[in-house]
Amino acid sequence: MSVTLASLLKSKQENRPLVVLTAWDYTLSPILDDLVDIILVGDSLAMVALGHPTTLPITLEQMIHHASAVKRGVKRAFVVCDLPFLSYQEGISAAIRSAGRVLKETGVQGVKLEGGYPLIAETVANLTTIGIPVMGHIGLTPQSVHLLGYRQQGNTDAEAERLLSEALSLEQAGAFSVVLEHIPSHLAATITSSLSIPTIGIGAGPNCDGQVLVTADLLGLSAKLPPFAKAYLNLRQVISEAVQKYADEVRDHQFPS
Ligand code: KIV
Repeated sequence: MSVTLASLLKSKQENRPLVVLTAWDYTLSPILDDLVDIILVGDSLAMVALGHPTTLPITLEQMIHHASAVKRGVKRAFVVCDLPFLSYQEGISAAIRSAGRVLKETGVQGVKLEGGYPLIAETVANLTTIGIPVMGHIGLTPQSVHLLGYRQQGNTDAEAERLLSEALSLEQAGAFSVVLEHIPSHLAATITSSLSIPTIGIGAGPNCDGQVLVTADLLGLSAKLPPFAKAYLNLRQVISEAVQKYADEVRDHQFPS
Protein backbone atom coordinates (compact mmCIF):
# COMPACT_ATOMS: atom_id res chain seq x y z
CA MET A 1 0.00 0.00 0.00
CA SER A 2 1.26 3.48 -0.82
CA VAL A 3 2.51 5.68 1.98
CA THR A 4 0.30 8.75 2.35
CA LEU A 5 0.35 11.87 4.45
CA ALA A 6 -2.44 10.33 6.57
CA SER A 7 -0.49 7.11 7.14
CA LEU A 8 2.62 9.09 8.13
CA LEU A 9 0.66 11.07 10.71
CA LYS A 10 -1.03 7.89 11.98
CA SER A 11 2.35 6.25 12.55
CA LYS A 12 3.00 8.67 15.41
CA GLN A 13 -0.32 7.82 17.08
CA GLU A 14 0.48 4.11 16.70
CA ASN A 15 4.05 4.53 17.92
CA ARG A 16 5.38 3.00 14.69
CA PRO A 17 8.82 4.50 13.95
CA LEU A 18 9.19 6.04 10.51
CA VAL A 19 12.12 4.92 8.36
CA VAL A 20 13.54 7.62 6.11
CA LEU A 21 16.52 7.45 3.74
CA THR A 22 17.91 9.75 1.10
CA ALA A 23 18.20 8.93 -2.60
CA TRP A 24 19.54 10.83 -5.56
CA ASP A 25 18.94 8.62 -8.60
CA TYR A 26 16.92 5.94 -10.36
CA THR A 27 19.39 3.16 -9.46
CA LEU A 28 18.84 3.55 -5.74
CA SER A 29 15.22 4.61 -5.37
CA PRO A 30 13.48 1.34 -6.44
CA ILE A 31 15.65 -0.59 -3.96
CA LEU A 32 14.53 1.68 -1.13
CA ASP A 33 10.92 1.92 -2.24
CA ASP A 34 9.55 -1.17 -0.46
CA LEU A 35 11.79 -0.81 2.59
CA VAL A 36 11.27 2.73 3.85
CA ASP A 37 8.37 5.09 4.53
CA ILE A 38 9.86 8.29 3.12
CA ILE A 39 12.53 8.77 0.46
CA LEU A 40 14.17 12.16 0.81
CA VAL A 41 15.88 13.72 -2.18
CA GLY A 42 18.08 15.66 0.21
CA ASP A 43 20.29 18.51 -0.93
CA SER A 44 23.13 16.53 0.71
CA LEU A 45 23.35 15.07 -2.81
CA ALA A 46 25.33 18.25 -3.62
CA MET A 47 28.12 16.77 -1.48
CA VAL A 48 27.44 13.03 -1.84
CA ALA A 49 26.75 12.78 -5.56
CA LEU A 50 28.16 16.00 -7.00
CA GLY A 51 31.31 16.53 -4.91
CA HIS A 52 30.58 20.03 -3.60
CA PRO A 53 32.07 20.96 -0.19
CA THR A 54 28.67 22.13 1.16
CA THR A 55 25.01 21.91 0.12
CA LEU A 56 24.93 25.58 -0.92
CA PRO A 57 25.88 25.36 -4.61
CA ILE A 58 23.10 23.02 -5.73
CA THR A 59 20.39 24.68 -7.81
CA LEU A 60 16.65 24.18 -8.07
CA GLU A 61 17.13 22.83 -11.61
CA GLN A 62 19.59 20.22 -10.33
CA MET A 63 17.26 19.19 -7.49
CA ILE A 64 14.41 18.84 -9.99
CA HIS A 65 16.65 16.74 -12.26
CA HIS A 66 17.56 14.34 -9.43
CA ALA A 67 14.08 14.25 -7.84
CA SER A 68 12.54 13.32 -11.21
CA ALA A 69 14.97 10.42 -11.55
CA VAL A 70 14.27 9.23 -7.99
CA LYS A 71 10.50 9.49 -8.43
CA ARG A 72 10.58 7.47 -11.66
CA GLY A 73 11.81 4.53 -9.58
CA VAL A 74 9.24 4.81 -6.78
CA LYS A 75 5.76 3.32 -6.60
CA ARG A 76 5.06 3.08 -2.87
CA ALA A 77 7.11 5.37 -0.63
CA PHE A 78 6.32 9.04 0.05
CA VAL A 79 8.94 11.16 -1.74
CA VAL A 80 10.09 14.52 -0.39
CA CYS A 81 12.52 16.86 -2.16
CA ASP A 82 14.67 19.49 -0.44
CA LEU A 83 14.25 23.07 -1.57
CA PRO A 84 17.85 24.22 -2.12
CA PHE A 85 19.55 27.28 -0.69
CA LEU A 86 18.13 30.57 -2.02
CA SER A 87 15.11 28.97 -3.66
CA TYR A 88 12.75 29.89 -0.78
CA GLN A 89 14.50 32.26 1.67
CA GLU A 90 13.73 35.36 -0.45
CA GLY A 91 10.07 35.31 0.44
CA ILE A 92 6.76 33.57 0.13
CA SER A 93 6.26 33.98 -3.61
CA ALA A 94 9.76 32.62 -4.34
CA ALA A 95 8.99 29.64 -2.11
CA ILE A 96 5.62 28.98 -3.75
CA ARG A 97 7.21 29.12 -7.21
CA SER A 98 10.08 26.79 -6.23
CA ALA A 99 7.95 24.28 -4.33
CA GLY A 100 5.28 24.37 -7.03
CA ARG A 101 7.86 23.64 -9.73
CA VAL A 102 9.26 20.74 -7.71
CA LEU A 103 5.84 19.12 -7.33
CA LYS A 104 4.75 19.88 -10.90
CA GLU A 105 7.94 18.81 -12.66
CA THR A 106 9.03 15.80 -10.59
CA GLY A 107 5.86 14.20 -9.22
CA VAL A 108 7.21 14.07 -5.64
CA GLN A 109 4.63 14.55 -2.89
CA GLY A 110 6.32 17.06 -0.59
CA VAL A 111 9.15 19.52 -0.05
CA LYS A 112 11.51 20.12 2.86
CA LEU A 113 12.94 23.44 3.88
CA GLU A 114 15.31 24.46 6.63
CA GLY A 115 14.78 26.76 9.60
CA GLY A 116 11.94 27.70 11.88
CA TYR A 117 12.28 31.46 12.26
CA PRO A 118 9.12 33.52 11.63
CA LEU A 119 9.53 34.01 7.85
CA ILE A 120 10.01 30.27 7.38
CA ALA A 121 6.97 29.40 9.49
CA GLU A 122 4.95 31.94 7.48
CA THR A 123 6.29 30.40 4.27
CA VAL A 124 5.31 26.90 5.44
CA ALA A 125 1.80 28.19 6.26
CA ASN A 126 1.47 29.62 2.74
CA LEU A 127 2.71 26.43 1.07
CA THR A 128 0.42 24.16 3.07
CA THR A 129 -2.53 26.49 2.46
CA ILE A 130 -2.17 25.93 -1.28
CA GLY A 131 -1.84 22.17 -0.83
CA ILE A 132 1.90 21.57 -0.77
CA PRO A 133 2.98 19.16 2.00
CA VAL A 134 6.00 20.51 3.89
CA MET A 135 8.58 18.81 6.08
CA GLY A 136 10.46 21.19 8.39
CA HIS A 137 14.14 20.86 9.35
CA ILE A 138 15.65 22.48 12.45
CA GLY A 139 18.75 22.09 14.63
CA LEU A 140 21.85 21.72 12.49
CA THR A 141 20.71 23.20 9.19
CA PRO A 142 23.47 22.62 6.61
CA GLN A 143 22.35 25.55 4.43
CA SER A 144 23.47 27.79 7.36
CA VAL A 145 26.88 26.14 7.66
CA HIS A 146 28.79 29.41 7.38
CA LEU A 147 26.86 30.80 10.35
CA LEU A 148 26.43 27.71 12.53
CA GLY A 149 29.08 25.25 11.35
CA TYR A 150 28.33 21.53 11.63
CA ARG A 151 28.30 21.59 15.45
CA GLN A 152 25.52 20.26 17.65
CA GLN A 153 22.72 22.81 18.19
CA GLY A 154 20.44 23.39 21.18
CA ASN A 155 23.08 23.09 23.88
CA THR A 156 22.12 26.16 25.88
CA ASP A 157 18.74 26.75 27.54
CA ALA A 158 18.11 29.69 25.22
CA GLU A 159 18.89 27.65 22.08
CA ALA A 160 16.80 24.74 23.32
CA GLU A 161 13.85 27.05 23.99
CA ARG A 162 14.21 28.59 20.55
CA LEU A 163 14.26 25.19 18.85
CA LEU A 164 11.18 24.01 20.76
CA SER A 165 9.31 27.16 19.81
CA GLU A 166 10.43 26.80 16.14
CA ALA A 167 9.15 23.21 16.09
CA LEU A 168 5.81 24.30 17.53
CA SER A 169 5.47 27.12 15.01
CA LEU A 170 6.25 24.74 12.12
CA GLU A 171 3.53 22.39 13.37
CA GLN A 172 1.16 25.34 13.75
CA ALA A 173 1.99 26.36 10.15
CA GLY A 174 0.88 22.95 8.89
CA ALA A 175 4.17 21.05 8.44
CA PHE A 176 3.51 17.30 8.37
CA SER A 177 6.79 16.41 10.10
CA VAL A 178 10.02 17.99 11.30
CA VAL A 179 13.60 16.78 10.91
CA LEU A 180 15.66 17.32 14.08
CA GLU A 181 19.34 17.30 13.15
CA HIS A 182 22.25 17.04 15.58
CA ILE A 183 20.59 18.21 18.80
CA PRO A 184 20.80 16.68 22.29
CA SER A 185 18.70 13.57 22.76
CA HIS A 186 16.78 15.02 25.74
CA LEU A 187 15.80 18.09 23.68
CA ALA A 188 14.64 15.86 20.79
CA ALA A 189 12.54 13.92 23.33
CA THR A 190 10.96 17.14 24.64
CA ILE A 191 10.19 18.39 21.12
CA THR A 192 8.82 14.98 20.08
CA SER A 193 6.45 14.79 23.03
CA SER A 194 5.31 18.40 22.48
CA LEU A 195 4.27 17.87 18.84
CA SER A 196 1.46 15.86 17.33
CA ILE A 197 3.32 15.57 13.98
CA PRO A 198 6.21 13.08 13.66
CA THR A 199 9.77 14.16 14.36
CA ILE A 200 12.48 12.55 12.22
CA GLY A 201 15.86 12.45 13.94
CA ILE A 202 19.39 12.47 12.59
CA GLY A 203 21.98 12.75 15.32
CA ALA A 204 19.13 13.49 17.75
CA GLY A 205 19.00 10.25 19.74
CA PRO A 206 16.41 7.48 19.89
CA ASN A 207 13.45 9.51 21.18
CA CYS A 208 12.16 10.73 17.82
CA ASP A 209 9.21 9.35 15.85
CA GLY A 210 11.48 8.27 13.02
CA GLN A 211 15.08 8.29 11.85
CA VAL A 212 16.77 9.47 8.68
CA LEU A 213 20.24 8.70 7.36
CA VAL A 214 22.05 9.74 4.22
CA THR A 215 22.09 6.47 2.25
CA ALA A 216 25.69 6.93 1.16
CA ASP A 217 26.66 6.95 4.86
CA LEU A 218 24.57 3.86 5.66
CA LEU A 219 26.14 1.96 2.76
CA GLY A 220 29.70 2.97 3.61
CA LEU A 221 30.04 4.88 0.34
CA SER A 222 31.00 8.17 1.99
CA ALA A 223 34.70 8.75 2.56
CA LYS A 224 33.96 10.46 5.90
CA LEU A 225 30.97 9.90 8.19
CA PRO A 226 29.38 12.49 10.45
CA PRO A 227 29.76 11.47 14.13
CA PHE A 228 26.10 10.40 14.43
CA ALA A 229 25.87 8.29 11.26
CA LYS A 230 26.21 4.51 11.11
CA ALA A 231 27.60 2.52 8.18
CA TYR A 232 25.85 -0.85 7.86
CA LEU A 233 28.15 -1.96 5.03
CA ASN A 234 31.52 -1.03 3.53
CA LEU A 235 30.36 -0.56 -0.03
CA ARG A 236 33.53 1.34 -1.01
CA GLN A 237 35.46 -1.84 -0.29
CA VAL A 238 32.90 -4.11 -1.98
CA ILE A 239 33.00 -1.95 -5.12
CA SER A 240 36.75 -1.73 -5.07
CA GLU A 241 37.10 -5.54 -4.81
CA ALA A 242 34.61 -6.11 -7.65
CA VAL A 243 36.34 -3.58 -9.90
CA GLN A 244 39.74 -5.09 -9.09
CA LYS A 245 38.40 -8.55 -10.06
CA TYR A 246 36.99 -7.20 -13.32
CA ALA A 247 40.25 -5.39 -14.12
CA ASP A 248 42.26 -8.54 -13.41
CA GLU A 249 40.01 -10.65 -15.63
CA VAL A 250 40.22 -8.15 -18.51
CA ARG A 251 44.00 -7.94 -18.20
CA ASP A 252 44.30 -11.75 -18.02
CA HIS A 253 42.02 -12.20 -21.09
CA GLN A 254 39.49 -14.07 -18.90
CA PHE A 255 36.59 -11.66 -19.48
CA PRO A 256 34.67 -11.97 -21.71
CA SER A 257 35.08 -15.71 -21.88
O1 KIV B 1 19.95 16.74 2.68
C1 KIV B 1 19.76 15.76 3.42
O2 KIV B 1 20.16 14.63 3.13
C2 KIV B 1 19.03 15.99 4.66
C3 KIV B 1 19.00 14.91 5.68
C4 KIV B 1 20.32 14.74 6.30
C5 KIV B 1 17.94 15.12 6.69
O3 KIV B 1 18.49 17.03 4.84
